[in-house]
Amino acid sequence: MNAVKPMVLVTGGAGYIGSHTLIALAEANYDFIVYDNLCNSSKESLNRVEKIIGKSIKFQEGDIRDADCLERLFTTYNIDSVIHFAGLKAVGESVEKPIEYFDNNVNGTLVLLSVMKKYNCKQIVFSSSATVYGDPATTPIKEDFPLSATNPYGRSKLFIEEILRDVFVSDNEFKIVLLRYFNPVGSHSSGTIGEDPNGIPNNLMPFIAQTAVGKRECLSVFGGDYDTKDGTGVRDYIHVVDLALGHVKALDYFTSETSISPDETRVPFPKTNPLTVNLGTGNGYSVLDMLKAFERASEKKVAYKIVPRRAGDIAKCFADPSYAKKMLDWEAKKSIDEMCEDSWRWQENNPDGYQNPT
Ligand code: NAD
Ligand code: UFG
Repeated sequence: MNAVKPMVLVTGGAGYIGSHTLIALAEANYDFIVYDNLCNSSKESLNRVEKIIGKSIKFQEGDIRDADCLERLFTTYNIDSVIHFAGLKAVGESVEKPIEYFDNNVNGTLVLLSVMKKYNCKQIVFSSSATVYGDPATTPIKEDFPLSATNPYGRSKLFIEEILRDVFVSDNEFKIVLLRYFNPVGSHSSGTIGEDPNGIPNNLMPFIAQTAVGKRECLSVFGGDYDTKDGTGVRDYIHVVDLALGHVKALDYFTSETSISPDETRVPFPKTNPLTVNLGTGNGYSVLDMLKAFERASEKKVAYKIVPRRAGDIAKCFADPSYAKKMLDWEAKKSIDEMCEDSWRWQENNPDGYQNPT
């Protein structure tokens, strides 16, 4: 059996991606503590992860802007690295509440970084997003494409990336990985944890799933006239379990000086910038592709209608994931059929998400 590795602080670990990552961490024998203010999640997700991993989870309820609470954690535990998921993520809400978004996401990250520095914890994996590429001129998207943002949520990610680049330059002991997620979907194969949006889902997959289970009547497909194969928007949907494994690979990077590329060549890590990688599959699927795949998986008909485009949406967004393969030896493995099957298992077993647990 492997020796237990040092403690990882997982901010936002009760949320959708965080809860799946806890399982990957446990399987890789990382010890961790979850820090979350539960503003967009429920403690029930952690109870369910405990059942999956077969052990109890250390959890502290708290806000990343609360330096005192964070300091108590750093004095209690020997925290050696941080995976930083905590943040608000609804694009539309961010347009209505920019101050709250910048305070929570940007200010929260600054508080976290100051406490980390004070306790000499200098390893952080940050949840960034493909949204930092704005409307890319071409696809697939590579990490060196120009960056921009079209809404306060996206700008908060961009600002945090810039802050982390400056921190990296200022202190050569800092090890930083920026993970730019494409469109996370799916659930753990147990069907006991998954995405549990508040109210009407903004994102495609939970909306399709709720329509299939009978909670919504009809999917509105935003735009049928894009320059794509069937006129609907194209995205790079990635199974959340694959995404979770990317975080373990990022932590493994902290313990190695070089990455191991598939051809066994030792690749030095970048010296001038944080390691920045896309986490996507490299495949672009349209809204109608996803709808059909979900119908196959659920054996349900999903009613839909084409409606005008949603403001701010782009036609196509999918990753070139080759740099993640080269630097982290990570690649997505799961198909859209698995994404839809797992998403359906979660939805069918938990029509009310984490409410009314059975
Ligand atoms: P989520 O809302 O399910 O999880 C975020 C967690 O952070 C929640 O548990 C929430 O309670 C917690 N949180 C928020 N603000 C906090 C604060 N101030 N202090 C402590 N905890 C706080 O979201 P998710 O989908 O799991 O996303 C995780 C991260 O990945 C976010 O930073 C998000 O912006 C980023 N991301 C998500 C997507 C996506 O489509 N899901 C895509 C790209 C990037
Ligand atoms: N869509 C619909 N109907 C819906 C919801 C979505 O047709 O009810 C379409 C959108 O127009 C788009 C595609 O489905 O073409 C995907 O939309 P999502 O809202 O699921 O995802 P986005 O690509 O718009 O954005 C998501 C996150 C962002 C993140 C981005 C990149 O919401 O926060 O992925 O990671 F930045």
